[in-house]
Amino acid sequence: MEYSRGDHTSNRLKLLCKIAVLLCIGAAAASGQLTDDYYDYCCPQVYRIVRSRVAAAMKAEMRMGASLLRLHFHDCFVNGCDASILLDGSNSEKFAAPNNNSVRGYEVIDTIKADLESACPGVVSCADIVALAAKYGVLLSGGPDYDVLLGRRDGLVANQTGANTNLPSPFDSISTITKSFQNVGLNVTDVVALSGAHTIGRSRCLLFSSRLANFSATNSVDPTLDSSLAPSLQQTCRGGDNQLAALDVNSSDVFDNHYFQNLLANKGVLSSDQGLVSNSDDPTVAATKALVQAYSANGQRFSCDFGRSMVRMGNISPLTGKAGQIRKNCRAVN
Ligand code: HEM
Ligand SMILES: *[C@@H]1O[C@H](CO)[C@@H](O)[C@H](O)[C@H]1NC(C)=O
Ligand SMILES: *[C@@H]1O[C@H](CO)[C@@H](O)[C@H](O)[C@H]1NC(C)=O
Ligand SMILES: *[C@@H]1O[C@H](CO)[C@@H](O)[C@H](O)[C@H]1NC(C)=O
Ligand SMILES: *[C@@H]1O[C@H](CO)[C@@H](O)[C@H](O)[C@H]1NC(C)=O
Ligand SMILES: *[C@@H]1O[C@H](CO)[C@@H](O)[C@H](O)[C@H]1NC(C)=O
Repeated sequence: MEYSRGDHTSNRLKLLCKIAVLLCIGAAAASGQLTDDYYDYCCPQVYRIVRSRVAAAMKAEMRMGASLLRLHFHDCFVNGCDASILLDGSNSEKFAAPNNNSVRGYEVIDTIKADLESACPGVVSCADIVALAAKYGVLLSGGPDYDVLLGRRDGLVANQTGANTNLPSPFDSISTITKSFQNVGLNVTDVVALSGAHTIGRSRCLLFSSRLANFSATNSVDPTLDSSLAPSLQQTCRGGDNQLAALDVNSSDVFDNHYFQNLLANKGVLSSDQGLVSNSDDPTVAATKALVQAYSANGQRFSCDFGRSMVRMGNISPLTGKAGQIRKNCRAVN
């Protein structure tokens, strides 16, 4: 339904679009649920537009696929998947500890939003754009093609305290991380399957260098870190806290199950990665380790569970019906 502004066809299409928007709102209000065909009538080109913008961003920098996936996670864990992470201002989640100088991809979302506001004005929420961008980040990295559910609306407030409270830290135990997932309705399967997102992307040294030197009174290096990987990470981190290391040392830009194979070889980079199999005094680890073994042996099972867990994560407290709004600019409420 593309049109050039100002002519008669354009006005007629605008009217059609308005009706379509009402149909969209009507459908969501009736069910209160996300659906996989939400934009099929009011903005069918949404998939093509998001996909091509994500592809272009990843062509410029392959890592952007990973960054967009993480953006969706950090949105959903704070006030639900409502694009609250995109809001600028004094309470912005962007400056919370887990996000500041860490979460990336805001400009890519802005570009997609601008395209969609000219193709289908007032129709596609920023929260759905983030969910779709994550989907294409995974797919274009070689990962599974899960059906993303749509129909979210955008929140009206940012919650910096929520971002500081709800997001798991790489220094947390697996029991603590599992609790933070349970707080948003996710379970141990989701913890392990979604940790598999670390098959792509990078981490700053700041977040794992404590494993590389002066680890404890008895060990210089974390004993659960492979002795051949430690020197290469030490080398990387000689450049300082902001140096980057691949989270999947085997294939950092490809979405595969090597992350799990790495964990079984003590090649997890973050303490919270390796902890999924190593810290056997943690009561949750028996369950996480069994899943790591299953995903390591069976990439298809990982792909399938990952897609399901992404749908569950994408379903955390969505705003539907008349709640929230469709922002015009993802950085500010209308
Ligand atoms: C289980 C608890 C988790 C912890 C403790 C954790 C922690 C981290 C940390 C510390 C980083 C590096 C950040 C930086 O360098 O500033 C990171 C990166 C990343 N995380 Fe997680 N994460 C977790 C779960 C998830 C989930 C559920 C997803 C998505 C479904 C995800 C996706 C990513 C991705 C793709 C990156 C790389 C981002 C990039 O390169 O820009 N993580 N994570
Ligand atoms: C975020 O990072 C910037 C740049 O490093 C820093 O100046 C600022 O103090 C940080 N903000 C918060 C809230 O920690
Ligand atoms: C911010 O997040 C916290 C933790 O999830 C929650 O208890 C609080 O109600 C949220 N505040 C707002 C204004 O949404
Ligand atoms: C987590 O929830 C999913 C969906 O309800 C379910 O299939 C899975 O078995 C659950 N995992 C655990 C460990 O309970
Ligand atoms: C490790 O500890 C020694 C002795 O306290 C100190 O000199 C050194 O700077 C520390 N190394 C790191 C990387 O923190
Ligand atoms: C990554 O792992 C796969 C399967 O174990 C292996 O075939 C491949 O050579 C590894 N690649 C690197 C760069 O280590």
